[in-house]
Amino acid sequence: MALLEVRDLGVSFATPDGTVNAVNGVNFTLEKGETLGIVGESGSGKSQLSFAIMGLLAKNGTATGSVKFSGKEILNAPPHVINPIRANQIAMVFQDPMTSLNPYMRVADQMAEVLTHHKGMGKAEAVAESIRMLDAVKIPDAKGRVGLYPHEFSGGMRQRVMIAMSLLCRPELLIADEPTTALDVTVQAQIMALLSELQRDFGMATILITHDLGVVAGFCEDVLVLYGGQVMEQSPVDPLFTTPAHPYSRGLLRAIPRVDQEGEELDSIPGSPPNMTQAQTGCPFAPRCDFAREDCLDHLAPLAQFAPDRWRACNRTLEELA
Ligand SMILES: Nc1ncnc2c1ncn2[C@@H]1O[C@H](COP(=O)(O)OP(=O)(O)O)[C@@H](O)[C@H]1O
Ligand SMILES: [Mg+2]
Repeated sequence: MALLEVRDLGVSFATPDGTVNAVNGVNFTLEKGETLGIVGESGSGKSQLSFAIMGLLAKNGTATGSVKFSGKEILNAPPHVINPIRANQIAMVFQDPMTSLNPYMRVADQMAEVLTHHKGMGKAEAVAESIRMLDAVKIPDAKGRVGLYPHEFSGGMRQRVMIAMSLLCRPELLIADEPTTALDVTVQAQIMALLSELQRDFGMATILITHDLGVVAGFCEDVLVLYGGQVMEQSPVDPLFTTPAHPYSRGLLRAIPRVDQEGEELDSIPGSPPNMTQAQTGCPFAPRCDFAREDCLDHLAPLAQFAPDRWRACNRTLEELA
């Protein structure tokens, strides 16, 4: 049985300006220990997709479809079903550690509280385990620093504290939403190396959400490229990099920051992401796509398999994109 099975997942929001279709018809399966990258520009629906899975959508949001975790339906599940899973089996880390850390509590106390509350540990045992976890995320002198408050750590170290916190209950699935976006390049690389190591050591399945296709390269086995709430391309990571099969994937590839180009202008995709309150007909990327023709504004080809394990949603043939 798959660890996570997402079928026809949709997310919409009711707003004064109309319905926002933030996510449409997303499908994927994640086995135990597997890594999936979800990549797309800001506003493409990445975070809402994961919030829907976690049952954390804003009040005006509605999720449709199905999400099964170890065979159990968790989409729109009642609190007694989703809460224990959220506490113990699925963990999330975010761009801003302060969304998960309490600024007014010592790190020792907030980490230990997770363990006393969810694992029934005594305080001393919980603090010892917290220190072990801070060691695991390579915080120097974990024992000496566990008594500090979050603001007493640097940005990168605070990110490590949040990661340690998220791993306390040994989740089977970690969802990391732009975990390194706020950090400078060097610290970003360190955190990704750490996440990669932890992912292997703990054997947890991981969904890595990022706007930077470069970040998924050393980390993910599979990638889902999202734009305007639609999957544009779904592929194992290597062929996506060597032979991207959607104009949007190609644009993201060209926009990867490269060390050897530091200081130079990035080749970002011209134009801006779609206004999601307008009813979508056609391919959301069409207005920005070099290959678009008239039919692209009217309809979008359904996601179709074009190679083993690879799918794309594009009206143009691969020959036309050559
Ligand atoms: N509560 C909300 N009400 C209305 N629209 C929302 C709400 N939350 C998110 N959205 C919209 O959903 C779309 C996808 O957002 P999001 O998943 O956060 O994008 P990202 O890919 O940057 O994580 C955006 O257009 C955003 O404005
Ligand atoms: Mg986001």
